[in-house]
Amino acid sequence: MSGLKFLFLSLLLSACRGLSGSYGKEPIHARSPPRGWNSYDSFSWIISEEEFLQNAEIVSSRLHAYGYEYVVVDYLWYRRKVDGAYADSLGFDVIDEWGRMQPDPERWPSSKGGKGFTEIANKVHSMGLKFGIHVMRGISTQAVNANTPILDTRKGGPYQESGREWRAQDIGIKERPCPWMKNGFMGVNTNSGAGRAFLRSLYEQYAEWGVDFVKHDCVFGDDLDREEVSFVSEVLNKLSRPIVYSLSPGTSVTPAMARQVNGLVNMYRVTADDWDSWRDIVPHFNISRDLAAAKMIGSGGLQGKSWPDLDMLPLGWLTDPGSNEGPHRMCNLTLDEQRTQVTLWAMAKSPLMFGGDLRKLDDTTYNLITNPTILRINSFSSDNMEFPHITSSEVHGMKQNIYSRDLTEEDTLHRPDFGLTSCGDSRANVWSVKTLSQDVEQICWEANSGNKFEDPLCLVKRNLLVALDEQTIDKYQGKLHLLASDRRDFCLDASPKRKEFKRGSFSPCRLDENQMWELNSNGTLRNSYSGLCAVVDSEKASAVSGGVRSWIATGKGGRIIYVAFFNLEDGKRVISAKISDLATALPRAHLKGASCKCGEVWSGKDFGVVNDSMSMEVEAHGCALFVLNYCSPRRR
Ligand SMILES: *[C@@H]1O[C@H](CO)[C@@H](O)[C@H](O)[C@H]1NC(C)=O
Ligand SMILES: *[C@@H]1O[C@H](CO)[C@@H](O)[C@H](O)[C@H]1NC(C)=O
Ligand SMILES: *[C@@H]1O[C@H](CO)[C@@H](O)[C@H](O)[C@H]1NC(C)=O
Ligand SMILES: *[C@@H]1O[C@H](CO)[C@@H](O)[C@H](O)[C@H]1NC(C)=O
Repeated sequence: MSGLKFLFLSLLLSACRGLSGSYGKEPIHARSPPRGWNSYDSFSWIISEEEFLQNAEIVSSRLHAYGYEYVVVDYLWYRRKVDGAYADSLGFDVIDEWGRMQPDPERWPSSKGGKGFTEIANKVHSMGLKFGIHVMRGISTQAVNANTPILDTRKGGPYQESGREWRAQDIGIKERPCPWMKNGFMGVNTNSGAGRAFLRSLYEQYAEWGVDFVKHDCVFGDDLDREEVSFVSEVLNKLSRPIVYSLSPGTSVTPAMARQVNGLVNMYRVTADDWDSWRDIVPHFNISRDLAAAKMIGSGGLQGKSWPDLDMLPLGWLTDPGSNEGPHRMCNLTLDEQRTQVTLWAMAKSPLMFGGDLRKLDDTTYNLITNPTILRINSFSSDNMEFPHITSSEVHGMKQNIYSRDLTEEDTLHRPDFGLTSCGDSRANVWSVKTLSQDVEQICWEANSGNKFEDPLCLVKRNLLVALDEQTIDKYQGKLHLLASDRRDFCLDASPKRKEFKRGSFSPCRLDENQMWELNSNGTLRNSYSGLCAVVDSEKASAVSGGVRSWIATGKGGRIIYVAFFNLEDGKRVISAKISDLATALPRAHLKGASCKCGEVWSGKDFGVVNDSMSMEVEAHGCALFVLNYCSPRRR
């Protein structure tokens, strides 16, 4: 390693130690965006203790020096991994006598004997890291069905009030199930002493286990439950153990909604689940712009600060959303798309939670998530905002393949955004039957003609592909399976595997009401499980491109300016900005119509900026990230 490089690395290392270390007398929670690893993108829900600790070891040995500190077990760690168990199954969870979730002892052997996550947390702490878990809203359906008593941690026995013992059925609100895990969890009544005692018994137990980070799901975005968030925040605030409080998911978030929770938490998701698909990345630009403009980045939070969270980084070795399978495939994004993702996440100061399986961490991914400039921007920059004053022009004669693979029929089928809406919605009644041949009928969405997927979107119509017995025949007769045109064993599935039914997700056909549909005579297509009707967002299906964007921020003391150009279009663009416009947008920066030294991070090129203009050719879906410094006043 060259001397210069070594010096650079040492500086970075000490900067990062400062980050994860103590803050002197006043502990400030989440002083900069939290950073770590989360199991969801690579293991879905099925991770085992061994796999988790193996990943934690690698965080400790290779990423901790770069500020990656939290290792988080994502959802359903209490679900037994047996036949029939999946993301929205009922009855496979391990709960204690008080209706509280406990780690599945088969997957988490150290939890045997009621130890919960204590030993895992100890091991994680001994690696110098912090331990996090995912939890769902309220109370489990399983606990409500079992009508378990509620633990009153203040008295050390069952919760009693008005001369009786209170139980799960007194506090679970059946009308408020988690919409994407209907069989799993429901809200609790936080207005009752028993409801509050139950929540307290959960979070106090997490603290006893040694948990440092809680990702609370199905309580924000479209699922907002401010009462529960507010009460959990109160409980966490009273614990002697500091716990970083994170909310999920983030569909339909607005700055106004963010303001309802930011003071109660340390991070909150602001988008739907982000997977390794370009269409998932684009919507992050508008919402992060809006939250930056509303000054929500790094605003006050629980015992410290709060951060809008753009979700995990699904890079490297991954699984699929809601899958029952562990990591088995590489990230689908191109390198340009991956750089765009980490650059936006850095410029918007999102928490950085890596999602790939670290046991197969490749060098490209490693270099991306440990890039010193990216990490410095993410932790230390200020005045972060979208910068609209850029110009762009097309680069002609450069038609290029922007996808890492050629598109297949299956991809085309995956591309439209499916959604569910009320069957009375006037957008929903445009499905019709088309006869393809004597025995093949299709059901087609007619509203999307004229978009770039020229054919109307069609699904193959079949009567249920599974044999019905006496019990099921009355219930399911006449219902349909809708098949992918190229994979006739795959059925359109509305189950909330992605935590929302978003893109036509197809899964192997089975006897599951999530896969059953009825075509009403008025052209609506009703899903049997939810009773809602299918729509295709044709606008989103055709308009994926998001133009060209730019973000700016200042580095320490205003002597460094970061400028990112993003090309969200499907072809190359030359993007330009004027230094004088940057100076207007960043009045605190030392940039007075200057000539600057300028380095571009991804190409590694240095160049001088003169004549008030900076400009670069940016690949489709790619970005350029400039570090401007040594700006001297304009010469006469
Ligand atoms: C990634 O590509 C694979 C293979 O084409 C596909 O099955 C999968 O759905 C893609 N995943 C995402 C999140 O786009
Ligand atoms: C993003 O914001 C731009 C500018 O305000 C707007 O034109 C565009 O429609 C927005 N995109 C989405 C997907 O909302
Ligand atoms: C279509 O018919 C269904 C079933 O009769 C009804 O519930 C729904 O409101 C109708 N929707 C529209 C858009 O007419
Ligand atoms: C800067 O502008 C001057 C005067 O217009 C011109 O002569 C010079 O070539 C320009 N330099 C660059 C690098 O474009």
